[in-house]
Amino acid sequence: MNLQLIKNSLGKPYFETDDCLLYAGDCLELMKKVDSSLVDLTVTSPPYNIGKEYEEPMPLENYLDWCKDWISEIHRVTKNQGAFWLNIGYLEIPEKGKAVPIPYLLWDKTPFYFIQEVIWNYGAGVAGRKFFSPRNEKLLWYVKDQENYVFNLDDIRDKNVKYPNQKKNGKLKCNPLGKNPTDVWQIPKVTSGANRSSKERMPHPAQFPIALIDRIVKASSNTDEVVLDPFLGSGTSAIVALSNKRKFIGFEINEKYCDLAVERIKQYKNSPQPVSLFEFATTTQLV
Ligand SMILES: C[S@@+](CC[C@H](N)C(=O)[O-])C[C@H]1O[C@@H](n2cnc3c(N)ncnc32)[C@H](O)[C@@H]1O
Repeated sequence: MNLQLIKNSLGKPYFETDDCLLYAGDCLELMKKVDSSLVDLTVTSPPYNIGKEYEEPMPLENYLDWCKDWISEIHRVTKNQGAFWLNIGYLEIPEKGKAVPIPYLLWDKTPFYFIQEVIWNYGAGVAGRKFFSPRNEKLLWYVKDQENYVFNLDDIRDKNVKYPNQKKNGKLKCNPLGKNPTDVWQIPKVTSGANRSSKERMPHPAQFPIALIDRIVKASSNTDEVVLDPFLGSGTSAIVALSNKRKFIGFEINEKYCDLAVERIKQYKNSPQPVSLFEFATTTQLV
């Protein structure tokens, strides 16, 4: 129903299925046209203003103002019990800092209530020369209502428990479903390269790992709810949302990435299964 309301405001999508809408265009302009309070969860990773092929670097103040603008639109389109997960990395500030975590500049520039920062730790990346090799990015978890938000802990418990049968007063000490996964998540990055390419790799330079978004979608939304990604890229959040029986809406400014996302969604639809098991194939070579 909410997907239909969104479609009524935005018009014909670039691509659609019964549970998914994809629009090619600027997410800020598109979100401005969407009615308030229609989205349950937004999970996204924007450009970091570091000169990747999909962004035009801006002066820092302009970049932060732009981020505030689209975050404020996300807040407006989010339902009262909804959540916003923001994945964000580092940038260099000349004369001030080399690898400045963008959350330090942005975390409170939003009307959302901040729950916590999750550290995403991964094994591969660039090697630092006169500093430590960066191996983490941040996930900022926000909600609209601090008293009333979704947290499906039992759906995302970590089954890797050292002493699962340990008891206290005759009762199992640990939840049989597993332990709370903590706020440090060790999930491999999607890597490229002849011998080290991840099996889920698509030709996009900044692809989310499926496992990262799977945990967020399961923890912070329920079946049939609407998940939004305004910076869709290769469509990872779309296939994860659909695989978890959520509805999905995505925005992406670059049509070649839209096509990649469409290809991925179609492949997933042709062979639905838990998304973590799905291997994508693409004939598109973009990067
Ligand atoms: C960090 S990447 C997201 C990658 C994505 N998480 C994935 O799994 O592939 C950011 C994406 O935002 C897109 N983008 C940049 N500016 C945009 C805008 N104003 N509106 C919509 N998309 C934009 C870029 O083309 C790029 O694909």
